[in-house]
This record gives sequence, structure tokens and C-alpha cells, in this order.
Amino acid sequence: MRIWKSVDKLVEGDIAEEEIALAAGKAVVRVGERLTEDKIGLLKSLGIKWLLVDTTHIDGDVKGILHEDFVSGMKQDIEDIFTKVVEDGKIEYSKVEERAKTLSKNIMDNYGDYIVPVMAILKNLDEYTYTHEVNVAILSTLMGIELGLKEETIHTLATSALIHDVGKLMVPQEILNARRKLSNLEFTEVKKHVVYGKQICEESGLKDRAILAGIEEHHEKMDGTGYMRGLKNGSIDLFARIIAVADIYDALTSERPYKPGWTPYKAFSFILSIAGKHLDPRVVNGLIKVMGMYPAGTRLLLSNGREVVVVGIKRGYYTRPLVQDEEGNVIDLGQEKKLKIEKVLG
Ligand SMILES: [Fe+2]
Repeated sequence: MRIWKSVDKLVEGDIAEEEIALAAGKAVVRVGERLTEDKIGLLKSLGIKWLLVDTTHIDGDVKGILHEDFVSGMKQDIEDIFTKVVEDGKIEYSKVEERAKTLSKNIMDNYGDYIVPVMAILKNLDEYTYTHEVNVAILSTLMGIELGLKEETIHTLATSALIHDVGKLMVPQEILNARRKLSNLEFTEVKKHVVYGKQICEESGLKDRAILAGIEEHHEKMDGTGYMRGLKNGSIDLFARIIAVADIYDALTSERPYKPGWTPYKAFSFILSIAGKHLDPRVVNGLIKVMGMYPAGTRLLLSNGREVVVVGIKRGYYTRPLVQDEEGNVIDLGQEKKLKIEKVLG
């Protein structure tokens, strides 16, 4: 997707689609160059205001499921909504519902043969809660589509996902971000975020039983070992079972004060290992349909000796993802049948 972007909004990985040269003729940015933080800083210091870039890094009719600017705007909206919760103790529910509907509708509108996930980027550890809420809503929506839920149900699912951790606002930050093992008392307090979340929503006038269940039950486990109520299997609401899968995937792949982010492949492998035990296998199957067996961000070595990164999948091609090489070219391994995946690099 080629667009003109304000230099202030460039992000690492955007690919320049025009050359910028100094008066002396020396190129600052070349066509096809993948931008780094340093290069973006250089453009700013030179007073360049706009640059033509490819933001999705994908060619042809393959595009990301969301625009990156939309995702970062959504993150800001959630931060604003949550800030008001801290001030007033109430959540602007109608605003959450409108944002969730816009998010899930945008995803459904872009849902075609190719699924190229676009997630919110965690730029500093303080904004984890907002980034996480947006990413869980994106992943839940994608799984909801693959599970065959109705459009209206997907909008409601996205609403629940977008605020599923709102109760964490009532848990002290020093406990949530502790770099040490929590005491039993502290861990009990963290667990209570599901109850606090439900209370905030109920006191704000939210009555939808499924939305409340997504918030209250997303840490329940299929074998009954989760919290707060130790519910089992089908007694856990479907929204909560979907949000649980999205929650674990995003939490594991995110950097936290007490751990580095796992690679998407490692997180995905872990999710497969607890399907049936902690997670609903039918929902995990939905994640496989969305991500394939090599989730976006996985680094692969191909049989031609090239290192590539997975950017998405063509629907149904679970073991033959769309990959991007170091020059930014996208290769559909579903079409390039001679190329084999030699190994997963990370
Ligand atoms: Fe949670």
C-alpha cells in the first residue's frame, strides 16, 4: 500500500518509495530502502515533511488487515478511555462499543484471501495495557471470523476484548510491573482484576452478559485450574475462551518488565501445547486458521539459502506462509512450490 506519510508518523520498517537527495546529490533515502529509527531521525533533522512509502510492505492485492495509523489511533483512544476510568471510576461504554465496532468492521472489510495481521506496537513498557487491549481485540475478531460467528456477535466480542483487562487499573502498578516473584497476597490482588473489571462495567451501566463474561472469565481454564471461579470447559463463556487465546498469545510475545518478549513461533508452539488442557482446542484451531503454522514475525531459512520473515498467510495454506525477504520482496510460498522451509530461525 503506497501512501504519502508525514515524516513524524514514519515507523521502522516502512519502505521508501521515493529518493530523497541532498543538494550535493548524495541520497539520504533510496527507493526500496527499509527505514530505520536513525534514518527517520535524519529525515526529521533535515526538515523533510513528507515521504512516499509502502506501509504494509506487501505487493499487489495483498494488504494488511488494518492500517497502521488506525491501530495506533485505536491505542490512543483506549488510553484516553482508561484514563477517564481512573478519574471517574466509570467507563464510557458507548465510546468503547463504537470503537470496537469500527475496529472489527475494518477487519471484516479487509478480510480476503490473504490474512496479513497488523498489530499495535509496544513502544514503551508503560503503555502495555492499551497496546495489549487493542491486540487482543484484533486477534479475537480474527478468530471470531474463522469460528463463523455472526457479524453482530463479532462486534460484541471485540467490545469485550477491547476492555477485558480494564480491572487492572485498580491493581497497583508496582505489583503489575514487579520484576520479582509475587507474594501470594499480591498474586491474589492481580487475579482480582477480572472482578474489578466486571464491577467497573456494571457500575457504568453495561448489562450485556457475554461482554461481562469475557471480562470476568478470561483467566478460567478448560481443566478448571483457572481463576476466579475454577469454571470448566463449556461452562466458560465462548467470548472468554476466545479472549484467553488472544490474551496469552499477545502477553507471551510482548516484552514485560520481568521478561523479554517470546518469538511468535515460540508463543504459538506453547499455545498448541496447552490446547485442550487450558485452552479450548476449537478456538486454538481458529488461531491456526488465522496465523497458519508459522505466525507473522517468524524468521525462516528457505532452501535457496535466503532468510525471510513471515508476514501472513493465504487462507488455507497453513504450512506455506507469505514471507518477505531482506529487500522487502513478498513471496507467496503457496505459489512458489519449489522453495522449501529448511528451518525456523526464531
Ligand atoms: Fe487479564
